[in-house]
Amino acid sequence: MRIDIITVQPALLDGPLNHSMVKRAQDKGMAEINLINLRDYALNRYGQVDDYPFGGGAGMVLMCEPLANAIEDLKAQRQYDDIIYTTPDGHTWNQQMANAMSLKQNIIILCGHYKGIDERIRTLYVTQEISIGDYVLTGGELAAAIMTDSIVRLIPGVLGNEESALSDSFQDGLLAPPVYTRPSEFKGLKVPDVLLSGNFKLIEEWKLNEAENRTKIRRPDLLK
Ligand code: ADE
Repeated sequence: MRIDIITVQPALLDGPLNHSMVKRAQDKGMAEINLINLRDYALNRYGQVDDYPFGGGAGMVLMCEPLANAIEDLKAQRQYDDIIYTTPDGHTWNQQMANAMSLKQNIIILCGHYKGIDERIRTLYVTQEISIGDYVLTGGELAAAIMTDSIVRLIPGVLGNEESALSDSFQDGLLAPPVYTRPSEFKGLKVPDVLLSGNFKLIEEWKLNEAENRTKIRRPDLLK
């Protein structure tokens, strides 16, 4: 899978994309992630990519031409399944969307910044508008990092068996059950006996029961 991220702040993505599982996926050749600096498509030698909003108001708006040129450049090289724009007024990102996206070949993620991007770019090019939650970030870069991380770890082969995504929270519509490791007793708190029993069937029943209880208490909306 190839992910091209168009941004005015590529440095914000360097860290998240070059460590842990996302780095491993790239090293194994299972994901190719490219950062495109929007300033390479600036209108002038001052690096201009934004301008004041028509009609007034606070903040700057990313302009049509640099964005369109960056997107057209990419589209001339390959076909894209989706052009995603990160924005607080988009659909809220979730595990199902990450699952679906992990099956795509090529996607572009367009990071908003300042007050956002000219609406005509959304109309002309963007196929999905995604928010990572009901709060406002300075730019879409951190949202793009979160989406990329949640997508890439789902690409078949990226996670080893022992880290399987199938047991993650949300993957089966439930929160994950509690987990324990050694020691079997810590500050008077014991690991539930069933987990030490070696009885696989009982352990699976316990995990499911705990997952259901936890979901009922913390996220009843998931059970509807
Ligand atoms: N840009 C600013 N805030 C955002 C959010 N909550 N989700 C995605 N992109 C954003």
